Amino acid sequence: MDARGPGAEALVGDPGVPQARRLAGKVAIVSGAGSRPADTESGIVGNGKATAILFAREGARVVLVDQRRDWAEQTRRIIDREGGEAILVEADVSDDGSCGEAIRRALDAYGGVDILVNVVGVTGPAGNAIEVDPDAWDRAMRVNVTSMVMMAKYALPPMIAAGGGAIVNVSSVSGLLGGHPSLLYPTSKTAVIGLTRSMAAHHALQGVRVNCIAPGTVYTPMVASRGMTPELRDARRKGTLLHVEGTAWDVALAAAFLASDAARWITGIVLPVDAGATAARLQALSPRSDGGPPDDDGGPPDDGGA
Ligand SMILES: NC(=O)c1ccc[n+]([C@@H]2O[C@H](COP(=O)([O-])OP(=O)(O)OC[C@H]3O[C@@H](n4cnc5c(N)ncnc54)[C@H](O)[C@@H]3O)[C@@H](O)[C@H]2O)c1
Repeated sequence: MDARGPGAEALVGDPGVPQARRLAGKVAIVSGAGSRPADTESGIVGNGKATAILFAREGARVVLVDQRRDWAEQTRRIIDREGGEAILVEADVSDDGSCGEAIRRALDAYGGVDILVNVVGVTGPAGNAIEVDPDAWDRAMRVNVTSMVMMAKYALPPMIAAGGGAIVNVSSVSGLLGGHPSLLYPTSKTAVIGLTRSMAAHHALQGVRVNCIAPGTVYTPMVASRGMTPELRDARRKGTLLHVEGTAWDVALAAAFLASDAARWITGIVLPVDAGATAARLQALSPRSDGGPPDDDGGPPDDGGA
């Protein structure tokens, strides 16, 4: 029988039940815990859903925050079925009062807050500096950046009062590199890295660690909904060193580590979760250093580069 219990759905890339419950006794707030559902029965999940499910498996009591109640209900059903514990808070995290209310609901239900994972993020308006609409820019910056500050504003006091905690913010490799077709998305994701480092410095001596994850081209329903062709999907996979497609579970596993006491000596970092995409520039037509022919797909040599 599946270790996750009878009736468990097959979710693509699902790592299963962890051996150690690294978040036992912790209360974790996950924003964006709903995630867009897959259009097809493909079993792929978004970053917030995978994070919330994995945190519950690791023993945390999870507060599922999302503006889409229906999407977050689906996350709660999975956690319930697996015997985990979660409550759902419908909230728009771009609204200061709603962020305060979400943290109050967590305190009422569970008496404290140990972990905050800010997953909410939107692609935002298209366009370069000449084209982008300034009002749409402001709205998207509020969702992608200001929301993380407002959630922290209300989560930090109870964390500090209890002796500390951990915050994990979701950025993107687009925040580390140029080349994204729009200006808003990479700018907001770079800002997430800046706020992570600044908050890590502000709150270190209060026992709060603040880190961020920069996911690469993970395949989530949000990505699939943008009309991904099999060819483009394959090209994204081959744009990494490992030539392996990532899933939201890869992001969730990194978040669980950074939120856990196993990362007690880690704060202020940006952790790329990207199959090595930002570690090296793939040069399809460059000569190989061993004098062999160039790799036809830009990937590592057949011997794995050893
Ligand atoms: N999918 C990728 O390839 C990828 C890569 C790098 C980074 N990321 C980041 O990961 C995060 C999640 O991505 P995803 O692919 O799972 O997307 P998704 O669209 O499935 O999930 C985003 C969730 O946030 C919620 N949300 C949006 N605005 C909100 C608001 N104002 N208040 C409350 N909830 C709100 C949505 O309802 C949704 O449930 C984003 O920050 C995204 O930038 C994704």
